[in-house]
Amino acid sequence: MAKTKTAFFCQNCGTQYAKWVGQCSSCKEWNTVVEEVVQKEEKRSWKTDISSVKQASKPLRVSEITHEKELRLDTLDQEFNRVLGGGLVPGSLTLLGGEPGIGKSTLLLQIALKLPYKTLYVSGEESQRQIKMRADRIQPNSENCYILTETKTQNIFQQIGALEPDLVVIDSIQTLHTDYIESAAGSISQIRECAAELIKFAKESHTPVILVGHITKDGTIAGPKILEHMVDTVLQFEGDRNYVYRILRSLKNRFGSTAELGIYEMQGSGLREVNNPSEVLISKNQEDLSGTAIAATVEGMRPLLIEIQALVSTAVYGTPQRSATGFNAKRLNMLLAVLEKRAGFKLAAKDVFLNITGGISVDDPAIDLAVMAAILSSNADIPIEKGICFAAEVGLAGEIRPVQRVDQRILEAEKLGFSTIFVSKNNKIGLKNTGIQIRKVSKIEDVVSALFG
Ligand code: TYD
Ligand code: MG
Repeated sequence: MAKTKTAFFCQNCGTQYAKWVGQCSSCKEWNTVVEEVVQKEEKRSWKTDISSVKQASKPLRVSEITHEKELRLDTLDQEFNRVLGGGLVPGSLTLLGGEPGIGKSTLLLQIALKLPYKTLYVSGEESQRQIKMRADRIQPNSENCYILTETKTQNIFQQIGALEPDLVVIDSIQTLHTDYIESAAGSISQIRECAAELIKFAKESHTPVILVGHITKDGTIAGPKILEHMVDTVLQFEGDRNYVYRILRSLKNRFGSTAELGIYEMQGSGLREVNNPSEVLISKNQEDLSGTAIAATVEGMRPLLIEIQALVSTAVYGTPQRSATGFNAKRLNMLLAVLEKRAGFKLAAKDVFLNITGGISVDDPAIDLAVMAAILSSNADIPIEKGICFAAEVGLAGEIRPVQRVDQRILEAEKLGFSTIFVSKNNKIGLKNTGIQIRKVSKIEDVVSALFG
């Protein structure tokens, strides 16, 4: 009988230990080290399963290597292409992470259904019927998309060998298991081994592979960190499940920039690409309401105008409540302290609620000024004039600080028909002859007097 070999793995970061330890010395997490069986056999390659010839790679001169930069697989999804840096690279491995129910399966199925190439969608989570029902909602007639419900990698490779698809989607890596490792599906050694087999397959057959990865409570992709190192591209699908907007970000990209961003709207018939996000994120309210301000932000490379809503009311309890959705609560407290100190507002006895509409979350410091303006507007119950927007950071001394890519923000605001934008006096603006009025301010007091007289 073959001897069973075991090792201990940290379930958080994937570090391997020879014996059990209470705390992982690499990621410092407690109680994450678990014993797993790591029995390995000699002959293992995805190719032995589809009985093809094994080819060892040889060193080549850089000049001899034909580069396949232009050869990208167009996914026919503008947003997805943009985030990937222009389409899927042959032989690349892309990992798509995101919270449960956010729409990862929907997004990939939708892409698979639309593609004119042969696509194999492997699901270890749902039955063929369930997927068919979803496919009917998205796009009923697709001739090129094949669905396989299978979790054993050897069987998957066998089917791939028979079908020869141009794109393989695996939903999800945590459900896969390989015969060569004996631990349970979803364990660190299984994930690592299955990913390694898929990488080998992708690189040798030049087929792009997209993997769905579950994420843990704290938002990182479940399984070893090493998985993120192994793949070429790591994408994250995020958004608030109670809202319709979803943001696709790239956290790592070996073939493009990580600053790109894709925006989708979840509809009854799948995800719709949002090519002009600013228009949908600003409510088309005709009435003037106090407590709202528009911020010109830049998410990744894309300028985006978002609406910020604040509600300031008298505190019912001794300790005033502060709550922020889509904005850092600590930063909100800091901005309130600045308002208290520099603009003389007695906000200490007030509850302050802040919300970024559309359920998106922003960490661009350039929305500071709009946040303050919304709070002041709600506090005074005076609406901010329509057509005004803001793009500036606020410092601890109440000074209005410059922000990056200000030209891009101004252009976007102008495009959307805004008449005035507040920016820092110190911001260098390269634009000339703009149709929008650029108000340069240096202190929060200037903004208060400009807005509320
Ligand atoms: P799903 O793709 O299953 O999420 P994940 O794979 O990330 O866990 O998305 C499920 C949600 O999307 C579900 O709550 C229903 C919703 N949905 C729609 O609103 N419209 C649609 O057309 C589809 C297919 C799903
Ligand atoms: Mg899913």
